[in-house]
Amino acid sequence: MRSSSVIKVFVAVAAFAALVFGVWMGLLRIGWIIDAPPAPGTHGPMLVLGFLGTVIGMERAVALAKPWAWISSATSALAVVAMLAGWPAELAGALLLVGGGVLVWVFVTAYRIQPESHIVLMGIGAVAWVLAAATWLAGNPVPSLVPWLAAFLVLTIAGERLELARLIATTAAAKRLLFGAVGVALAGSAIAWASPEFGARIAGLGNLLIAVWLIRFDIARRTIRLGGVTRYMAAGLLLGYVWLAVSGVFWMLSGLSAGASTYDAALHTLFLGFVMSMIMAHAPIVIPALAGLAFPFHPSLWVPLILFHVTVVIRVAGGLTGSFEVKKWGAMLNAIVLTLFLLQVAATVVRGEHARRANTR
Ligand code: HEM
Repeated sequence: MRSSSVIKVFVAVAAFAALVFGVWMGLLRIGWIIDAPPAPGTHGPMLVLGFLGTVIGMERAVALAKPWAWISSATSALAVVAMLAGWPAELAGALLLVGGGVLVWVFVTAYRIQPESHIVLMGIGAVAWVLAAATWLAGNPVPSLVPWLAAFLVLTIAGERLELARLIATTAAAKRLLFGAVGVALAGSAIAWASPEFGARIAGLGNLLIAVWLIRFDIARRTIRLGGVTRYMAAGLLLGYVWLAVSGVFWMLSGLSAGASTYDAALHTLFLGFVMSMIMAHAPIVIPALAGLAFPFHPSLWVPLILFHVTVVIRVAGGLTGSFEVKKWGAMLNAIVLTLFLLQVAATVVRGEHARRANTR
């Protein structure tokens, strides 16, 4: 196997391990007594930067088609190893800082080739990754990274959607509105360094405005009327945007204070309801693009998508009503449905590859 292929396989395996162990750490954190992976405190960085950061780094390296761009995801994959091994948080923080820095450079390079606003947005998202890693490296506790972790994902996803919305010619005024909302979210994250409560409320307002923008301008509002995979993707996107709006309201009301009864709901309406719904929605295009695998859509994919949103509602309802058992079971159901989704993705790929081989015989 060529060394570049070894790196790609290592990166993909590390991203998958980050997802599995990150969710496992989350179950432990919410009170399920299960054999512990080391350092469950790294659950947030593991899932946001270790899993999603690595996947986004891979996606952008494929898009830029330059070997050095893989340094981003290779470094964040090494950070996954450091977190899983329970090595000092400073090492994982430093590796993530490098991974984020390289991703910023990937976007600078991409912008020189194609000076478009969606690349600027995703580039700012990568800067948020760097700031999250720097905040962690400076010895701050994980909850203080949350606004930057959220900004990384929200801006990257908004940038990817803006890229697709180009197909329907978003106006310059609409783009200014989006960048205004992004400015509010970033200002909130920066204020949170000095005043975590107040900063989180402002960041929440920014995220709410971004959600309203996405609901208003994304092509998903039109494509939901079509059938098949297009409708499935649009539903996943729109449901995710609603969760982003809900999380914005929670952040504004609760100030995202760790330890508050609403903290889990404020976090996971965004990180699960919004982000994982985006992953589920984009799977039919990301898997063929990244791995070159066939992914023939099957209507059964609706099952985990719908169940997933029901389980997020259960978890959030448990958090808001103060019912710890409901919240804990909601979290377990989240994990079970995500596993179901992964199994279904694997089955779809196997089916697609069989069909492809049969057709090429
Ligand atoms: C079944 C899945 C999950 C479970 C059981 C879970 C559980 C938890 C728990 C119990 C906390 C601490 C909340 C508190 O202190 O009140 C937490 C925090 C957090 N979670 Fe999750 N989570 C899950 C999925 C995710 C996903 C998919 C992401 C990101 C994409 C994520 C990102 C975070 C972040 C950023 C924090 C805050 C930082 C921290 O305290 O580590 N979680 N999670």
